[in-house]
Amino acid sequence: MKELRELAYAKINLSIDVLGVRPDGYHEVEMVMQSVDLCDELILSLRDDEQIHLDCEKAVTSDPEDNLVLQTARLLKKRYSVKKGADLTLLKRIPVQAGLGGGSSDAAATLRGLNHLWKLELVPEELEHLAAELGSDIPYCIQGGTAFAFGRGEKVRKIPSFGRWNMLLIKPSFGLSTPKVYREFDKREHKVRYASRAIENELRERKRIRFSRLKDFLHNDLQQISCGLSPEVGQLILSLENRGAVALMCGSGPTVMGIFEDGKDREKACKDYLDAGYRCYLVQTISY
Ligand code: C5P
Repeated sequence: MKELRELAYAKINLSIDVLGVRPDGYHEVEMVMQSVDLCDELILSLRDDEQIHLDCEKAVTSDPEDNLVLQTARLLKKRYSVKKGADLTLLKRIPVQAGLGGGSSDAAATLRGLNHLWKLELVPEELEHLAAELGSDIPYCIQGGTAFAFGRGEKVRKIPSFGRWNMLLIKPSFGLSTPKVYREFDKREHKVRYASRAIENELRERKRIRFSRLKDFLHNDLQQISCGLSPEVGQLILSLENRGAVALMCGSGPTVMGIFEDGKDREKACKDYLDAGYRCYLVQTISY
């Protein structure tokens, strides 16, 4: 078989509700996940031997062997006793440690791509099952779109599409560690808002959330914690709101997204944040 290409889309969270700590140390969460059209690209081809080789233009992890794409390919090969190998090339565009699920999406693309390349004929549910062993957000990334995730994030159900929205993603120069954000979260008193259930209900009942009501729905329980760890996150959110955008932190941060009603306002904001030295991405939600 010739070369295969898989696109690995970034995700944002329309909501994150943290319900509590689980006996296994993870947090019980509810989230509404949404794909956006910023993506990494994975190129796969068969090898004559049984080796798996990964070529990645930028060092994603300090030790290349730690790369989630390699771990994913090895797990799939072992689990299904695959007697084939693969050459993988990963073109990175999604920033790392950003809260945009880039690593999770790359792993999901690896599962989808190798499933084709190695002719395993696994259905999405089987891929999701394997994905859950590799990371909490990876099962969602197998199918993407708009979805409700629960458990530690690995249980996923499709919900009606959030529709097409234009966003600006702003990535500060530093990264934030998800375990650290959760550890800080545990030190605080917390009342669950169940924002994810409200979004799901609204999308089911009304099919769409109007721009004027977005602010009432979007919510991220980790935002306040990350703003405490890195005040720049809070400043970015405030400055986006002052420009008329509805702003929310992505995942555990530090990337912030702003949804703009007016395209020109979004482009002007993008230029200003670029001039201020931020990495910026003009993206659109993807609905299936
Ligand atoms: O599952 P994943 O490897 O992506 O999780 C990374 C880290 O994030 C976990 O080790 C844990 O510290 C934290 N986490 C959590 N609860 C979740 C998901 C992640 O505490 N539901």
